[in-house]
Amino acid sequence: MRPPLTVAAGLLAGLATFGTSANPFPDADLANGRKIHVESKCAACHEEKTGRDAGFIYLRDDRKVRTIFDLKRYMSLCNSELRLGLFPEDERDVAAFVNQQWYKLKE
Ligand code: HEC
Repeated sequence: MRPPLTVAAGLLAGLATFGTSANPFPDADLANGRKIHVESKCAACHEEKTGRDAGFIYLRDDRKVRTIFDLKRYMSLCNSELRLGLFPEDERDVAAFVNQQWYKLKE
């Protein structure tokens, strides 16, 4: 658990950047996200399922994710369904990485 003050500061920082950069994951560690995307087999499994490159599943015409909300939902789904056992911070980092690389969603 993070202390409440840090959470409040994080929220404020999030609000402050919203509108200007509209970065939905202001605190994310993208390098960590990139690492997890490979190490947790996100890329490998998606490639195997689609028979295309790692980005294809995120960009296919009938993709499921259209908003940040969907992205977080799918992240948790893949994480818990497949028992990948990611920590919330790691989930956030990999979501941020996937968004930066492929979805490019603002909200
Ligand atoms: C064992 C296989 C497997 C692993 C591992 C896996 N996924 Fe998935 N993922 C899938 C499948 C299959 C779908 C497509 C589900 C559908 O079409 O309803 C999917 C869909 C998704 C989508 C939605 C794509 C869309 O349609 O927009 C996201 C986001 C996603 N995965 C993220 C991840 C991330 C991040 C990881 C790693 C932490 C991960 N997945 C690990 C099998 C996997």
